[in-house]
Amino acid sequence: MQLIIMGAPGAGKGTQAAKLVAKYGIPQISTGDMFRMAVKSGSELGKAAKSCMESGKLVPDEVTIGIVRERLGKADCAKGFILDGFPRTVAQAEALKVILADLGKSLTCVLNVNVPSSELIERAIGRRICKACGATYHIKFNAPIKENICDICGGELYQRADDTAETMANRLRVYEASTRPLIEYYKGIGLYEEIDGCQRIEQVTKDMMSVLANRGA
Ligand code: AP5
Ligand code: MG
Ligand code: ZN
Repeated sequence: MQLIIMGAPGAGKGTQAAKLVAKYGIPQISTGDMFRMAVKSGSELGKAAKSCMESGKLVPDEVTIGIVRERLGKADCAKGFILDGFPRTVAQAEALKVILADLGKSLTCVLNVNVPSSELIERAIGRRICKACGATYHIKFNAPIKENICDICGGELYQRADDTAETMANRLRVYEASTRPLIEYYKGIGLYEEIDGCQRIEQVTKDMMSVLANRGA
């Protein structure tokens, strides 16, 4: 199964990708997570990505496409993968088509998690992430049992540098201008599926699984 989870910043792509990884046993490929790791390690890639991420802009297509091409060629992607946050531009979608053709694979479908922008800001600002295992929480919608402590591993929770009201406003503008057009792009090739992201996390996962089952995945 080769899956794309699309959606605006804070829509729940990462949350749902983690659920589907557990169900289907295929890896989550999050370009945002890959860039954050690169920034943390101080690599050349991290240096290129840092200022774009901090201001809520997209990392240039050629950089992003390069890391995805390399990642999808790894052995753990042989049985499939879940793309989270890629593609985000029509140029990236076109590049993905070529990468998949080179690998002899095709897309199963594109799940778009739909959430109105008023709610996205609250979701991003309240998000907390485990420093140790990367699990995602929300102070109101998905709170850990103990404040600031990960339920799974006991790690400390932190807030992403780009989860501020100001950067989030930029991220939403960039989404509207560059990423929303992909909805029409994927509708046009019959791969698009809309998922209501305003339901409980568990219900969103159920809806995704039933769409995937209907597509024979
Ligand atoms: P990235 O990390 O991908 O950020 P994003 O797209 O802005 O999306 P988020 O990770 O913020 O949100 P999400 O949809 O994963 O939501 P989550 O599940 O965490 O990218 C960061 C940056 O990297 C970009 O700005 C760009 O600079 C760069 N980049 C990345 N990919 C790129 C690309 N392809 N090209 C160029 N540049 C790229 O959920 C959010 C919160 O809501 C959490 O607190 C969660 O607990 C809560 N929540 C989730 N689901 C629900 C629900 N159903 N109900 C209530 N709360 C919920
Ligand atoms: Mg995410
Ligand atoms: Zn943890």
